[in-house]
Amino acid sequence: MTAQIIDGNALSKLLRTEVAARAQALKSKGVTPGLAVVLVGDNPASQVYVRNKVKACEDSGLYSVLEKYEGSMTEADLLARVEALNHDPAIHGILVQMPLPSHINAQKVIEAISPAKDVDGFHIASAGALMTGMPGFWPCTPYGCMKMLESIGYDLKGKHAVVIGRSNIVGKPMALMLLQKDATVTVCHSHTQDLKAITLQADVIVAAVGKRNVLTADMVKPGAVVLDVGMNRNEEGKLCGDVDFEGVKQVASHITPVPGGVGPMTITMLLVNTLEAAERASN
Ligand code: GUN
Repeated sequence: MTAQIIDGNALSKLLRTEVAARAQALKSKGVTPGLAVVLVGDNPASQVYVRNKVKACEDSGLYSVLEKYEGSMTEADLLARVEALNHDPAIHGILVQMPLPSHINAQKVIEAISPAKDVDGFHIASAGALMTGMPGFWPCTPYGCMKMLESIGYDLKGKHAVVIGRSNIVGKPMALMLLQKDATVTVCHSHTQDLKAITLQADVIVAAVGKRNVLTADMVKPGAVVLDVGMNRNEEGKLCGDVDFEGVKQVASHITPVPGGVGPMTITMLLVNTLEAAERASN
């Protein structure tokens, strides 16, 4: 069997068309959804990410503002900027790009963002809302994974989902989202014993570790669905995920590629969250 590819670019295009239409509807009521992206310092990868986020907003008819600050900016000054954005009626979503310089307490900055504008879904109020099934913003990468499963009509009820990785922004929220859809969820991590014995039982596997070849064909049950959140470089400098794509696609029923899989979905869900924030604020 050769797996069906879940195309993150194609799904993003479809979802962004819907975002653009909903943004247009809000605009006709006099509200333009607005995202503020805050970048501190000159991390080259972060500069690319924020540029992509701002461009995606423009392409979908959302207003966006990019605030760039020197790496020497004080924590107090950044907290003051976040507070000003919390009160800015043109801004419905606030994203402070991570990582922040080491002299700034990132968690303190995240907690300063109003939960109503926390479109990254990193605030503890957002995490608590996800855990309890209350309305709130979901972190964009696992949310994008859920949309990918939805796009293939996958019913998670009673299925065994295995998440490899337990980060606060992917692994843990991913597990909660799968649980909310009635999957039986196992979270694996660096101390897990016999990972292969667990992944072989999985109907769905989400690999979110940040290490190449964490998941190989011999670890996958025939017909399983495999989502690859990894973003790594191989020896030739080529972008690759956590999954041995060529091997696993011979065993899985569906698989996401890297690039062109989960990656584009992350930005798409940021647009969805920003739109949602604007819709909630205007109701
Ligand atoms: N750095 C890398 N990914 C992200 C993200 O999704 N949000 C923020 N704020 N920073 C990041």
